[in-house]
Amino acid sequence: MNQHTQPHPGAYTQAPDTVGTTPGYMPGFGNDFETEALPGALPQGMNSPQKCDYGLYGEQLSGTAFTANPPERTWCYRIRPSVKHSHRYTKIDLPYWKSAPCVDPDVISLGQYRWDPVPHTDAPLTWLTGMRTMTTAGDVNTQVGMASHVYLVTASMVDEYFFSADSELLVVPQEGRLRFFTELGIIDVEPKEIAILPRGLVYRVEVLEGPCRGFVCENYGQKFEMPGRGPIGANCMANPRDFKAPVAAFEDKEVPSTLTVKWCGQFHETKIGQSPLDVVAWHGNYAPYKYDLRTYCPVGAILFDHPDPSIFTVLTAPSGVPGTANIDFVLFRERWMVAENTFRPPWYHKNIMSEMMGNIYGQYDAKPQGFIPGGMSLHNMMLPHGPDKNAFEGASNSNLGPEKLDNTMSFMFETRFPQHLTQFAAQEAPLQDDYIDCWTSLEKKFDGTPGKK
Ligand SMILES: [Fe+2]
Repeated sequence: MNQHTQPHPGAYTQAPDTVGTTPGYMPGFGNDFETEALPGALPQGMNSPQKCDYGLYGEQLSGTAFTANPPERTWCYRIRPSVKHSHRYTKIDLPYWKSAPCVDPDVISLGQYRWDPVPHTDAPLTWLTGMRTMTTAGDVNTQVGMASHVYLVTASMVDEYFFSADSELLVVPQEGRLRFFTELGIIDVEPKEIAILPRGLVYRVEVLEGPCRGFVCENYGQKFEMPGRGPIGANCMANPRDFKAPVAAFEDKEVPSTLTVKWCGQFHETKIGQSPLDVVAWHGNYAPYKYDLRTYCPVGAILFDHPDPSIFTVLTAPSGVPGTANIDFVLFRERWMVAENTFRPPWYHKNIMSEMMGNIYGQYDAKPQGFIPGGMSLHNMMLPHGPDKNAFEGASNSNLGPEKLDNTMSFMFETRFPQHLTQFAAQEAPLQDDYIDCWTSLEKKFDGTPGKK
């Protein structure tokens, strides 16, 4: 954040140490931010001075092609240029982190699936070794599609760093607190918050409070953006001010270190002699950020019927076809239900989009049992789904007064591409074999009698 204040006597009152309202973060979505961890480290009025202050190196990180409109890029002023943080690479194996295309001939992805929370083990697991891919979609090599993961993290990365050239990562904590110390600053997240880590950004992940479990949507395609709000207008849903980018933070640390890179679905390691988190100042619009899901303002039906779930979209990653997302990130949170003469839960449907859901806490209205915090469910392309028997009977027969859906927060990673189960999801994760049976007891009520309800 630019903390330099211009003296302007009499025009306003401002303490000399006035800073932003959220220590450590700058508000706004996709803003052209500027921030410096040492005074004067950020060049003003130009990007590439002949010599940068403090002996820093200037370097641009581009998240879009140079000619994209608008371009997304960040200028970094760092202790060493990134070429010093990248030597010869060796391939390493992270067998549980898969990338599309990953179609296992022994796995049936066609079906409705639900999992209990993936349990922790005694093994110390880091952000890299603790990533468990559940599904993949599209193709990482052509930058379309996504993967969904569960992470189980109990150990901090020590002198270990990582970046994904393949993807932007959307992190949804469900348990524990994590710190992402990135090149561009520090982001701490806990359940009810999310973090977004752009493609190419170097970071390490520390456990602030463990064990940590959560979900990751790995976006191979175009970056997440805010959805168009159409007739809703300028307010409600996610508001730009609630997205927070970190202020600059760096470490000047000369110790043998390892940088791991995910590139075209494979993992590579390079040995370096220092921390690569050495950006002292930066400006630009390509940065990590966090968002507090409790600030999401849901909009819904206030007289009758149940709108499409797209009305709960927090972020969307376009696919190139208007209105047809590579990924939508959709939030189902506490809200009032007031619709009259209406079947209020989600209706039965089939969808060309493939829906991976996760439960952060509480109870989901279409599935009162079985879909528990930490659990996931998958309703794949054109597979029918909807309320279970209890939800159907309850919603069909309840007195329709105003009702608060309380203590509930679930989400959906929805993609236009079919999601393929990994071997882990099909065979190792706690798959509920009886999920499909939740609809078995739905009975035929029709007997041709007019007026029967
Ligand atoms: Fe659905």
